[in-house]
Amino acid sequence: MNTLTNKLMLAVVAMTIPCLPFTSAAAQELSLEERGRAYFSACRSCHSVGPGEPHRTGPNLFGVFGARAATGRGYPYSQALRAAGLVWSEAALDAWIADPASYVPGNRMAYAGLRDTERRRAIVAFLRSVSPPPQPSPR
Ligand code: HEC
Repeated sequence: MNTLTNKLMLAVVAMTIPCLPFTSAAAQELSLEERGRAYFSACRSCHSVGPGEPHRTGPNLFGVFGARAATGRGYPYSQALRAAGLVWSEAALDAWIADPASYVPGNRMAYAGLRDTERRRAIVAFLRSVSPPPQPSPR
């Protein structure tokens, strides 16, 4: 190998090595909310989460954490969900996402349920992060 090639290779190695630990550390440091945002891709086909975004097949979920169930404005909820009398606490959201059909029989969310506890926890943390702190009046 000539000297120029050697120098180039050294330069490439020197540039690459510091990036490796940084990249893996950054991946590990994703917060629970950020992981939840990624897992929420399973829900996005039916749910928007931005403030004021239109409902899709399911209601917009901005502000859903801590809110009374079936109170999003302008969405035609099922009678089953309206009658359930739920408040979307951490535990209620977890149970709903795990198995919506068993948690509120007769509801219209066509989603089989998410078995992975950690993913549910992350999604609930994400929903919390897109909800304002508790308000005295309904949303
Ligand atoms: C196939 C479409 C679909 C998918 C996928 C889906 N949902 Fe839904 N979701 C709905 C529908 C429809 C409703 C309204 C149910 C009703 O009125 O009975 C709903 C309702 C909800 C509600 C209650 C909202 C309120 O205002 O009370 C929450 C919370 C929710 N979904 C979360 C999720 C999460 C989290 C995921 C992903 C893990 C998800 N949904 C996946 C269609 C969907």
